[in-house]
Amino acid sequence: MFKALVRLLSRVIVGALFAGVVHAADDFAPLYQVLTSPRCLNCHTATAFPRQGDERRVHDFKVARGPDDHGAAGMRCATCHTDHNFGAAPGAPHWGMAPLSMAWEGLNPTQLCERLKDPQQNGQRSIAQLVDHMQNDPLVAWGWSPGSNRKPVPMAKDDFVQALKLWAEHGAPCPQPAVGYELRELRGGLYWLSDGAYNTMFLVSSKGVIVIDPLPTLGPRYMQAIRSVTDLPVTHIVYSHEHTDHIGGASLFPKGAQIIAQVDTAKALARIADPRRPVPTVTFAKDYTLTVGDQTLQLSYQGINHSAGNVFIYAPRQKVLMLVDVVYPGYMPYPQLGVTADIPGYVQAHRDALAFDFTDFVGGHVDRLGTRDDVQTSLAFAQDVLATAQHSVDALSFPQYLQQKRNPGLQTWFAHDEYEKDRVAACESSLRGRWESRLKGADRFLASHCWTAIVGLAISLAPP
Ligand code: HEC
Ligand code: HEC
Ligand SMILES: [Zn+2]
Ligand SMILES: [Zn+2]
Repeated sequence: MFKALVRLLSRVIVGALFAGVVHAADDFAPLYQVLTSPRCLNCHTATAFPRQGDERRVHDFKVARGPDDHGAAGMRCATCHTDHNFGAAPGAPHWGMAPLSMAWEGLNPTQLCERLKDPQQNGQRSIAQLVDHMQNDPLVAWGWSPGSNRKPVPMAKDDFVQALKLWAEHGAPCPQPAVGYELRELRGGLYWLSDGAYNTMFLVSSKGVIVIDPLPTLGPRYMQAIRSVTDLPVTHIVYSHEHTDHIGGASLFPKGAQIIAQVDTAKALARIADPRRPVPTVTFAKDYTLTVGDQTLQLSYQGINHSAGNVFIYAPRQKVLMLVDVVYPGYMPYPQLGVTADIPGYVQAHRDALAFDFTDFVGGHVDRLGTRDDVQTSLAFAQDVLATAQHSVDALSFPQYLQQKRNPGLQTWFAHDEYEKDRVAACESSLRGRWESRLKGADRFLASHCWTAIVGLAISLAPP
């Protein structure tokens, strides 16, 4: 009970980080909006000159910052800027550039907030003094009555002051940068790592970390995620299959780690010679048990499916199964049945997966873990796609199509293309009714699955 509660809480916290919305971020957002408006930023530049206008162009007349931020000798700010707006020239008391330590150009909210609060850089101001400055300083106030046809700061002064006070009351929090991934311990040192579109897992043993699928979309953040839970070295890297979009971050990991993959994956990688995907140092044909310290992973290959060499990765103690690019929990597969290399192998992989004793399923894609139910649903979907595709071509053969529906002027080979489109549409509309509410992505992917099945039936498959 207690453990479950802790797990739930940690999910909530990690979830909040993942979305990049920590409560503190909200307090600074309105201040960031004002501070980065052209009216403020044109003086708070990181350059040797001020800027002008909403387009933030370099100040006319080669005006320079000068040694004291009030212009070079002979071209002082006060030559043209007085203590009030006058003609085209804006003005307020002590008109001059903010010192470089107070430059805000190019800073993200976290950086700007931290710089603003740093007494070394903000003129030794406390939070209260900062609030006072922004409420009462005439240069700041000028932002709300900038003269000529300049636009004022894009927020009412009262609202800005209220937001300032709220921020100060909450302890002047700075937004935390979003980590850009979700990390969750499944059980016993096995972690699920996701960027929302891709996911994978890694296993922490007493002797080192086993990395599975070094995702290029995470790149160096994969290592950061590992470092957030352990200081142990990465000793092993397991490739699920050869595809770059799942293992293209491999070269970012320490060179000494052993790389393990199925032989067909190793052959493909040796042939392609891609520096992002170093060739495996250990290969196996059918089964391989990887034991590191106190942890075990069982790798097994049951034949071609999504690709040649795509393996089942099973953590027996944690009862977690990983199989990439076959089941997309809650979603329809990626187009062409997950760009499968082999349709019967793709369908069979579902049955092989169900033969494992697992409770959690890692599919390599989408935003959540899967269950046995998800694998069963995906199997039923694939079977229905094949049956419906077969039904669609049975209902109207190509010769029948030529007689009944052919556009008379059309070249026969192009008529064949029209025929395929016609049958894909029939297949899609039939499947849509049954699957639209069960799996997400029907609009995007369903037609592609029908096409893949229709072509598969035409060129290689036995009738289902
Ligand atoms: C004409 C140029 C100019 C404009 C416009 C201007 N500032 Fe400044 N700002 C300065 C100067 C000069 C200082 C340094 C004053 C000091 O330290 O006493 C400063 C200092 C500050 C400081 C305190 C130091 C720091 O950076 O932490 C804050 C906060 C600030 N400005 C906010 C604003 C805001 C908000 C606006 C827009 C509404 C704005 N400023 C517009 C010139 C300008
Ligand atoms: C030769 C006259 C002259 C000098 C010297 C001069 N300015 Fe200006 N400045 C102007 C004029 C005129 C404008 C208005 C331009 C416009 O609106 O097209 C202007 C506009 C600005 C703006 C733009 C305000 C906005 O948000 O669009 C800033 C900031 C500024 N000056 C800062 C300075 C600073 C700081 C100095 C001294 C380092 C300085 N200027 C020196 C004439 C001058
Ligand atoms: Zn793949
Ligand atoms: Zn994939």
